[in-house]
Amino acid sequence: MDEVVIVEEIACENGDGVIAKVTINRPDKLNSLNQDVIKSIKQMCKWAENNDSVRCVVLTGAKPNPPEEGKRAKPNSFVAGADITEFTGKNSEEIREIFRDNAIEAIWNLNKPTIAMIDGFALGGGCEVACSCDIRISSTRSIFGTPEINLGLMPGYGATQRLVHLVGYGHAMEMMMTGNNVSAEDAYRIGLVNHIFEPEDLEAKTMEYAQTIAMKSMSTMRVAKKTIRAALDNGITDGVEIEAIEFAKLFDTEDQEIGVQAFLDRSTPVWKHR
Ligand code: COA
Repeated sequence: MDEVVIVEEIACENGDGVIAKVTINRPDKLNSLNQDVIKSIKQMCKWAENNDSVRCVVLTGAKPNPPEEGKRAKPNSFVAGADITEFTGKNSEEIREIFRDNAIEAIWNLNKPTIAMIDGFALGGGCEVACSCDIRISSTRSIFGTPEINLGLMPGYGATQRLVHLVGYGHAMEMMMTGNNVSAEDAYRIGLVNHIFEPEDLEAKTMEYAQTIAMKSMSTMRVAKKTIRAALDNGITDGVEIEAIEFAKLFDTEDQEIGVQAFLDRSTPVWKHR
């Protein structure tokens, strides 16, 4: 059987470390998240977290397989949501157990930079996977949405909270209340995605961003990510105080010295803590 999550290690351009390209691989079911996928994503997160050579994680969905003879091709998909077939016959206790400590939180809690590369449907849990990444880069043909309301449900992988931060209260409410599809252009307009590119350019452009990020000091990156996250949990006064503490601490690090000296020497910094 094919792996439901494929991890490829792509060398960083400076020859130091890798970008982990993680492909959710159930194209015949539009890469929907069944328990096997969830388990594999969680394993991947543990692996990436504990692997010093991983500088950035790019999450994406597998492209459709060629159609069987006489059948129509399946559509392009990032992730078309949780696997709805696994929702039947479950009560709240079973669902709470399944959704507790889930893969989307594992992605969210990764201390490495994460990018969602989206080409196709990013619906429900798919939109939530995208929202749990640090940056979202999409093709112009992608379609976003939180259609759970049509199943008598609402998002259960954090989108009621993360979408509000990304697109604001009004757009989040509209998406969740209508369940309507959101085009890539509209997703870009409301801040749901950082960039949109033509499908044929998506991978190269996304990898450019990943390479740029992968070349920074990873120890500084961890502090920066944690400090920006603090803005979601704190008011501005406390948040600025956290920044002041973390910023000052960076002045005790080797990579700060290396970065500043490289600027003064007009050279490229070679980070100690990659
Ligand atoms: N869970 C389980 N299976 C799913 C799925 C999901 N979320 N989304 C798609 N699939 C499966 C379909 O059942 C179908 O399987 P089959 O070919 O074995 O019958 C296959 O993926 C292709 O999907 P299909 O619906 O035939 O494609 P389409 O082009 O007609 O429609 C969508 C595409 C995305 C509009 C449609 O699949 C859809 O609405 N999916 C559910 C989206 C959703 O509500 N997500 C939130 C879940 S919480």
